Amino acid sequence: MHVPVLFDEVMQALQPRSGGRYLDCTLGGGGHTEGILNASAPDGRVLATDADADAIARVSERLRDALNNRLTLQQAWLDEAPAVAQSLGFVPLDGILVDLGLSSDQLASAERGFSFMRDGPLDMRFNRVQGEPAWALIEHMDVQSLTKVLREYGEVRNARRVAEAIWQARPIMTTGRLRDVVAGVARTRSDRIHPATQVFQALRIAVNDELRRLKEGLPKLIEILRPGGRIAVITFHSLEDRIVKETFRRESRDEVAQPGFGMGEARPARLRLVNKQPIRPSAAEVARNPRARSAKLRVAERVMGERGEG
Ligand SMILES: C[S@@+](CC[C@H](N)C(=O)[O-])C[C@H]1O[C@@H](n2cnc3c(N)ncnc32)[C@H](O)[C@@H]1O
Repeated sequence: MHVPVLFDEVMQALQPRSGGRYLDCTLGGGGHTEGILNASAPDGRVLATDADADAIARVSERLRDALNNRLTLQQAWLDEAPAVAQSLGFVPLDGILVDLGLSSDQLASAERGFSFMRDGPLDMRFNRVQGEPAWALIEHMDVQSLTKVLREYGEVRNARRVAEAIWQARPIMTTGRLRDVVAGVARTRSDRIHPATQVFQALRIAVNDELRRLKEGLPKLIEILRPGGRIAVITFHSLEDRIVKETFRRESRDEVAQPGFGMGEARPARLRLVNKQPIRPSAAEVARNPRARSAKLRVAERVMGERGEG
């Protein structure tokens, strides 16, 4: 099962309490959701969403006792979760968690196509019935776009050469085939990392449109927090962390209207930063769970909309 990352730090950040209302937008194996349910007993409630129907099915079995009573599960993308919460009347919220990336369950399942260690169809969709799988994306992209995806999302060295090799080898229908094509041309920054790691990461981000969803989702999530409510976001990729950092910074500054520049109304800050630097896992956690290695947690608190209030 997926081991939740920065578990104690997330609980410390959200401080779940009885009677509280929480949204977990990335249910995964349900470890954080379960922690929030326990910490907010006896009557705190959690709405947990995930794009992956398998995650929802697995957790609805595992946390059966809490279902209907204190836990609601629904399949949704991150940027759709605020609308789901609103349609269920589950607003305003006391706490929101976003824990991005892949779960160990997804990685372990060959048929999902996320892992180059297991041969399976080159799919990589979080939602298996929506959008294009990775093999189809490669099929429809030109070399230039593929180079851009590898360079920007994967920081792949010699991105152009790798993209050309992938393009030449099309159709690439399986994870094993992609791994072999990449291994033939790519170099990595470190001997310990297989060159396919970054290529797989880049394609996954593109397939699921992950950066756009994060950028568009965050302001909507902030909107449904009650004053004093907190949002905690765990990222595993520098581009994701930059989006969180910039959104939190922007939302924690008062925007001043500039007469004559068509800027519209002044917008008071909606957030207060709880930690200025991201929280990193301890050495002990990384030793226990190497997946935590690159995790960064940022936390912010909703304020009234006027500086000092809330
Ligand atoms: C790292 S796991 C979450 C683990 C979870 N916190 C736990 O304790 O088990 C990330 C989960 O979020 C989902 N996910 C990632 N990005 C998403 C997005 N943009 N929209 C919806 N779900 C997303 C994935 O399907 C995966 O199940």
